[in-house]
Amino acid sequence: MKKIILFLLSITFLTLVPANAAIYKGQKVFVKRCLSCHEGGQSFVAEYKMKVWKKLMKKKGKPLAKLHLKKKSAKKSWKYFKSKKYTKKSKHLKQFVIEYAKDSGNVPACN
Ligand code: HEC
Repeated sequence: MKKIILFLLSITFLTLVPANAAIYKGQKVFVKRCLSCHEGGQSFVAEYKMKVWKKLMKKKGKPLAKLHLKKKSAKKSWKYFKSKKYTKKSKHLKQFVIEYAKDSGNVPACN
């Protein structure tokens, strides 16, 4: 049963939008790395417009990282934002947040 669900899920992800695999990867990063601090579940992504996310995710997400590195209250995220893991996956994260930005009209499916 689990396998079937996973299979259906991946089909959905693969057929919805072309850039989908990357968006799915970005979603995973987002859920795992961002929602520990940012409340509201995945709707957090829809709190900002595309333009804002695009700006924050420029240059491999440097502005977003910088913003967090400046905030003492975000200290727990520093290690991550300074890591290669972050820059490496920032591309996927970017696609995800832009895909589901406030003015995109899309809502992330599943969780
Ligand atoms: C350790 C906690 C923590 C983690 C993890 C974290 N953030 Fe934040 N984030 C913060 C704090 C604290 C602020 C500053 C809030 C404020 O000043 O009001 C912030 C601010 C923001 C803002 C607001 C910027 C603005 O100009 O208003 C965005 C967007 C954001 N984070 C996105 C993300 C994304 C995307 C991730 C995952 C890659 C993430 N955050 C991970 C704690 C975190």
